[in-house]
Amino acid sequence: MLTYSEVKNNAQVLNFVKQTETAMAALEYTNHGLRHAELVAERGKKLIKDLGLSKEEGELAAVAGFCHDMGNFMTRTYHHYYGALLFHQIFQDKFAPEEVSTIMQAIANHDKDEMNFTSAVSAVLVLADKSDVDRSRVTETDIEKVKKDIHDRINFATRESKIKVDKQKKRITLTLKIDTNFCPIMEYFEVFTERMVFCRKAAQFLGYDFGLVINKFRLL
Ligand SMILES: [Fe+2]
Ligand SMILES: [Fe+2]
Repeated sequence: MLTYSEVKNNAQVLNFVKQTETAMAALEYTNHGLRHAELVAERGKKLIKDLGLSKEEGELAAVAGFCHDMGNFMTRTYHHYYGALLFHQIFQDKFAPEEVSTIMQAIANHDKDEMNFTSAVSAVLVLADKSDVDRSRVTETDIEKVKKDIHDRINFATRESKIKVDKQKKRITLTLKIDTNFCPIMEYFEVFTERMVFCRKAAQFLGYDFGLVINKFRLL
């Protein structure tokens, strides 16, 4: 099995991530490039560790996290399917068959209505991906334009986002600090309710409840 650091230095993967960064910037989307890929990889690996799962699963979660959005440069709508197939094309001989299929399933599953978790890797990928809300994801530099786009407003207003595993209480909690002068919390729910439902399903698969704390108020 290749390591996460080998995958993140693979020239083809890096190019797909870079192409995705350009394509998403052209669509005026938030960052789906290197910053997001690395963050989701690291967050996924840490979640696996905090859940007390194996080192191998941590490595698979990091690989899936780094590659999960690399299909976006081909199509936004089906990026999860394309990402999974691209992964297979690059790495089919570099990982064991069950590792390839675990990562493919996790990538293909991360952005679907009929979300179906078959491994801790796929559940952790959703938690790591959907919890990435942060000012640094906003690529727009014109503040007036930022104010006009709800996704940009929410990300820009988010000063801090942390996800923590409480093994005793069996709860995975996302904690956000949102500048309510810039974006009312209601707007967060307008856009993020679906993502929070995905996170709840992922946590449930792992045998945990999902909690959400915004500006010190526990909402879930
Ligand atoms: Fe995605
Ligand atoms: Fe993503």
